[in-house]
Amino acid sequence: EDDLVHTFNGITFTTRSSPELLNSLVTFDAREDDVLLVSYPKSGTHWLAEIIMHLYASEVALTSPIEFGDVSKLEQLNCLSCKRIIPTHLDGDMLPPTFWLKQCKAIYIIRNPKDIAVSMYHYYRENPNLPTIDSWPHFLQMFLQGNVVCGSWFDHVLSWEKHRSDKNTLFLYYEDMQKDLPGVVKNVSAFLGVNTTESGIGEICEKSSFNEMKTNTEKENHDPNHTVCVLTSNRKLIFRKGAVGDWKNHFTSKQNRMFEETFNKKMAFSEVAKHLVYEC
Ligand code: A3P
Repeated sequence: EDDLVHTFNGITFTTRSSPELLNSLVTFDAREDDVLLVSYPKSGTHWLAEIIMHLYASEVALTSPIEFGDVSKLEQLNCLSCKRIIPTHLDGDMLPPTFWLKQCKAIYIIRNPKDIAVSMYHYYRENPNLPTIDSWPHFLQMFLQGNVVCGSWFDHVLSWEKHRSDKNTLFLYYEDMQKDLPGVVKNVSAFLGVNTTESGIGEICEKSSFNEMKTNTEKENHDPNHTVCVLTSNRKLIFRKGAVGDWKNHFTSKQNRMFEETFNKKMAFSEVAKHLVYEC
């Protein structure tokens, strides 16, 4: 158990992020044309990565998360000569400062935290790289306290929200992608400055549908070192349900009240949280 996770800066990381790498992040040299794909786990990282890669066709490299690996990681990233799309689950305050200095583009994807808690609970149970969980009520408590990998959802959102008005930061909602994927794809392509046609957008939406991605993943053999999420040892575990509102099948009304109490306390001044869809 204990050798699966460790704590750095008060945040839980899996051992797939070495402390030496985390320590060396401050020395990373970002490039002006880097694009960050930022998320708290289970927010739709794989979905967004798929869309971005279709938008760029083949001109770019989708790297594994900047915090994934050992101390040699930063050097590996340095060696890439093409434009880099860099995923990360890092808290905004832990991001290498040159990303801010060079005003790199960053897309932050957010999802209703109740659905994230449910998604993460199932993921913890299936994923051999994560500590054992005894029950849903216990996990929910851990989630609310921020005692899960990548730390508190609330703190993660708040740390990135500080940059909400930066012109190089785009906030996207998982729920909006479910409601109007073509609209979101258009929005992303405009933000990235990539040319697309209506039919191109339609094609991307088809290729990045839940069923399409799930089927393709089951067919392919994926390299476990090529991951967009630090927690992912097996990509097949990602495509569970892909729905909005699955929390209603898991939360008791008491758990819902408890969740909302923490949410309202933590997110009282959050503009980003106000836009979250709560289909109660
Ligand atoms: P569920 O566990 O609720 O099904 P991440 O990629 O950040 O780890 O997020 C994983 C969640 O996104 C999972 O949620 C997964 O099913 C969902 N997801 C992945 N691809 C999707 C897609 N193409 N459409 C809708 N949801 C998707």
